[in-house]
Amino acid sequence: LQYFDELDEAQQTGLLNQIEALDLSLLDLIKDGVKEVPKGKLAPLGAVTLGEIKEKKDTYKKRGLEAIRQCQVGAVLLAGGQGTRLGYDQPKGTVNIGIEHDIYIFECLMKNLMKVTDEAGVPVPLYIMTSVSNNRDTIEFFEEHKYFGYDRSYVKFFKQEMVPTVDFKGRVLMASETELAMAPNGNGGWFSSMVVDGMLEDVHKRGIEWINVFAVDNVLQQIADPLFIGATLASGCESGAKVVRKAAPDERVGVLCTEDGRPSIAEYYEMTDEMATARKENGDLLYGFGVILNYLFREDKLEEIADRHMPIHVVEKKIPYMDEKGNRVKPEKPNGYKFETLVLDMVHMMNDCIPYEVVREKEFAPIKNRDGVDSIDTARELLRGNGVLL
Ligand code: UTP
Repeated sequence: LQYFDELDEAQQTGLLNQIEALDLSLLDLIKDGVKEVPKGKLAPLGAVTLGEIKEKKDTYKKRGLEAIRQCQVGAVLLAGGQGTRLGYDQPKGTVNIGIEHDIYIFECLMKNLMKVTDEAGVPVPLYIMTSVSNNRDTIEFFEEHKYFGYDRSYVKFFKQEMVPTVDFKGRVLMASETELAMAPNGNGGWFSSMVVDGMLEDVHKRGIEWINVFAVDNVLQQIADPLFIGATLASGCESGAKVVRKAAPDERVGVLCTEDGRPSIAEYYEMTDEMATARKENGDLLYGFGVILNYLFREDKLEEIADRHMPIHVVEKKIPYMDEKGNRVKPEKPNGYKFETLVLDMVHMMNDCIPYEVVREKEFAPIKNRDGVDSIDTARELLRGNGVLL
């Protein structure tokens, strides 16, 4: 409140309202140091492998296309993140990764989706999650680019909720004299945000029974993939997850397995060395399939869990803030915590989940960092490998 007296009445009221809306119980999570939620008993979970998919290709595809044509499948694009590692001020989806000509991340995703909808002959309803801070820019971008040729009546935007950020001592950070430094509440809240923002009416009206949720930053993301849909439906499971075979035992990916008998994703640091290196008789890793943030959930099951409490993860991030002297600081290294729920915890709330193997080089080109691994350069290389002209 250092600058409170310098503010006009409306600004003062605005700031007080923000303070009043703060969920200060979040601070309990860091009171005694940051602790991750302990995992239960982990066990391996077999996947539908590439070999099996090849064998049943026609059956899966037919079933998936049927579901799409009957409008049973909707898609949710998670685009509410702040992309701090990439360090781009605009929504990540608006990054132009082209060289000879413009090609935007959002455009790659829409083109991938349109490959499916062209074949099915119907559009797939697409819900785009934005945050309070990037909502307007995202909508304007889609408008400006005419939805990249997609039927705009099938696209809806919704906003996720924001939570406060704190420094390492637990002090709430300010963005300016009048605003707290808020951040989106993680990608786990996507379905409850859809409910809060009134999307369910549309979901029901269209008769959507399955939702394919995916990340914005994988430019090779295959959306509403008929084979994946068909395989998940055929499995009788409540959810499915696209997975890639781990490149090495110590690869830093979350592995799909079971935890106390329910599906779960174990992060690399949650596995013992023994588990990470254990192999089956045929030499394959026992915990051998990593998730790529592309899931299919039964819609009625999502409604069942929508009100349930999700674990909140405390994550160290670079958070732009205003210091005591009123300077705007853009930190070069992590300076505080964000509080996030994660979509992977939703998988654990399902009774079952079928891991569906995909070829990494064809479906996984994430853009997370400015350079090095998972950067624009590595994604470009992978796009070229798939015949995309840049
Ligand atoms: P990341 O975990 O990579 O987070 O998001 P991020 O915020 O985009 O990037 P960094 O960590 O700050 O560099 C994975 C996916 O989840 C979405 C992102 O947009 C991305 O598609 N996401 C993440 C949200 O939609 N909301 C969030 O609050 C966080």
